Amino acid sequence: MRILMVCLGNICRSPLAEGILRTKLDEQFHVDSAGTGPWHIGKAPDKRSISVAQKYGIDISTQRARQFSAKDFDDFDLILVMDASNYSDVLAMAQTENQQKKVRLILGDRDVPDPYFGEDDGFEEVYQLLQEATDEIVKELNSQ
Ligand code: 4NP
Repeated sequence: MRILMVCLGNICRSPLAEGILRTKLDEQFHVDSAGTGPWHIGKAPDKRSISVAQKYGIDISTQRARQFSAKDFDDFDLILVMDASNYSDVLAMAQTENQQKKVRLILGDRDVPDPYFGEDDGFEEVYQLLQEATDEIVKELNSQ
């Protein structure tokens, strides 16, 4: 089972989502993240994401940003996006119904807010939302 977390820049939300989900799954699962935008390719996560993860004992500092590509539809079974804008950007690249079906909003019915231009406490909120969301994902994966 291969799971890809997707946000806009791949430096704030999806690296955190990747780091958190990794702590909850064994090595049978492959977890990665990507951004729909190209601006931060090759960069480490935002220091505020690194810091909130560190606070809870998770090291995401070695992750490097990459851009989502059409190949990811073949390489992953489940593509979890952070907000409605990521959802439409990723879906626009899907070429088959099977590819479309792989894409889901990680919180189901609402967005993980983009914390990039906000204050540091936005990162704490994102962390907590992603903890809850990944608990649900793990429950679902374990019941399959
Ligand atoms: P992310 O946050 O999508 O959670 O990684 C952002 C990071 C960078 C930008 C926007 C959102 N940016 O505009 O550069």
